[in-house]
Amino acid sequence: MIETTGLSKYYGAFAAIRDVSFVVPQGQVAAFIGPNGAGKSTTLKILTGYLAPSAGTARIAGLDVSTDRIAAAARIGYLPENGPLYPEMTPLELLRFFGESRGLSGSRLADRVEAVTPECNLHAVIEKSIFKLSKGYRQRVGMAHVLLHEPDILIMDEPTSGLDPNQIHDVRELIRRLGATKTILVSTHLLQEVEAVANRLLLINEGRVVFDGTPAEMAAGDSLETAFHRLTGKLPATPAGDGDGAHPRANAAPHADVVGPSRGGQP
Ligand SMILES: Nc1ncnc2c1ncn2[C@@H]1O[C@H](COP(=O)(O)OP(=O)(O)O)[C@@H](O)[C@H]1O
Ligand SMILES: [Mg+2]
Repeated sequence: MIETTGLSKYYGAFAAIRDVSFVVPQGQVAAFIGPNGAGKSTTLKILTGYLAPSAGTARIAGLDVSTDRIAAAARIGYLPENGPLYPEMTPLELLRFFGESRGLSGSRLADRVEAVTPECNLHAVIEKSIFKLSKGYRQRVGMAHVLLHEPDILIMDEPTSGLDPNQIHDVRELIRRLGATKTILVSTHLLQEVEAVANRLLLINEGRVVFDGTPAEMAAGDSLETAFHRLTGKLPATPAGDGDGAHPRANAAPHADVVGPSRGGQP
């Protein structure tokens, strides 16, 4: 349902992502993890047609995003990193506006707004201006917008970032529930997120996929956190050739000085 083949994105000589290839089959919930700056948002923007790749192909339900963007977009619900919500609108106005721009109208639009409002717990704020809402409610408005046209593929960029623990719990519950019927690719830099929602894990570091498998396979008897540090070059790398076996680039010379969750915080 979601497929990238040899995807690269260059900004001048700098490669934001390099040769990224993976497939998320129907019904899977895949977590896309990696340190800040690893290339998660870049990959998701290419998959959703917001950014053109320098090389490679992105496919949604078999459709090439660069040549079939509109048809591909109809299949996807995309929650960008900081949802572009019009703050002066109310959630109701926003949902109607985006619904109409998606081609929904009349009773179908009314039905869909009626369905996503309770699904995302928006009743209490549906007629309040978005600028008055807490971050948690704004994120729910973003989720409602994503679900409005009933896409079967969801692509979400750090949906729990900036939320408090209760709100994080709610968003995870929603993702878990949606995962029963939809194909989901959700990025995060929080490892607890992975264990909470995903049965598949893609780890990206410095623009390259360095692990592709299940959370248990990545942890390999250790903690996910230790595996994350090792694969992102924060701990001494395992000897060449002794990788996870799931990806040929698993040992692609990490540069310990430029990786890690607090890039730049190193002396
Ligand atoms: N428009 C841009 N111009 C130059 N560099 C960019 C641009 N957008 C992103 N980058 C760089 O590409 C890398 C990957 O960014 P991003 O995909 O946002 O990472 P992540 O979402 O994993 O934190 C980062 O080093 C970032 O600074
Ligand atoms: Mg990002």
